[in-house]
Amino acid sequence: MNSLYIFFAVVIAVTNGKSLGANNTLTVQVYYETLGQDSKHFITTQLYPTFVQLGRERIALELIPYGHTSEGTDGNGNKTFTCPHGPEECYGNKVHACFTNLAFTKEGLLQFVYCSELSNTPANNTVLQTCAHGVGFDWKLVEDCLSSGKADELLSENGRKTALVNAPHIPTVVFNGNSYPERESVLNNFKQTVCELVDCIY
Ligand SMILES: *[C@@H]1O[C@H](CO)[C@@H](O)[C@H](O)[C@H]1NC(C)=O
Ligand SMILES: *[C@@H]1O[C@H](CO)[C@@H](O)[C@H](O)[C@H]1NC(C)=O
Ligand SMILES: *[C@@H]1O[C@H](CO)[C@@H](O)[C@H](O)[C@H]1NC(C)=O
Repeated sequence: MNSLYIFFAVVIAVTNGKSLGANNTLTVQVYYETLGQDSKHFITTQLYPTFVQLGRERIALELIPYGHTSEGTDGNGNKTFTCPHGPEECYGNKVHACFTNLAFTKEGLLQFVYCSELSNTPANNTVLQTCAHGVGFDWKLVEDCLSSGKADELLSENGRKTALVNAPHIPTVVFNGNSYPERESVLNNFKQTVCELVDCIY
């Protein structure tokens, strides 16, 4: 380890007023729900264009579809979910969760999520299938995820994650695992908010 180099790197980071990670990547977790108007607005007007411009070198993205869903169990002990915007939203959340989990690039995943959220009915099955097809994704994998019970597990796991951040508003965005940028900045000025933390020269 060259401690002199580390010393100068820290000095540069501090003088830039930016809390640079070692590799200048900001971890961004997005807690959202498929039919929430604020989620739709954030994904389509802020997150997607910013990620397209800055790329994965600047933004390490994690999507957590769940929002203010709640989980219960039915008479057979199977998981059930109740979503703020009704059963169709639960379906959308499950499909998004399956997509997030299946081996897929972050670019492809976000393209799919963007396509879905751009629609007036983001959780409509036809919309979801069309968006999956548009990014070259095999819908059969999503069907398997849904029918095997995997989707329920994934949604349940997203519920645990969402409970940990105790999100009062959806979407909630978390930077580097522990920092909550101001909601107003996230919803209207996301790129600038990110670029205050990482070096956005590209
Ligand atoms: C860069 O940092 C991010 C966030 O800490 C991390 O997820 C990623 O794996 C790192 N990449 C490299 C190449 O070290
Ligand atoms: C409950 O779960 C079991 C095992 O996954 C499944 O076979 C069964 O169809 C489920 N019941 C209902 C009502 O969904
Ligand atoms: C989903 O969208 C398709 C095509 O726009 C429409 O025909 C269908 O009725 C919609 N399904 C539901 C459940 O709204």
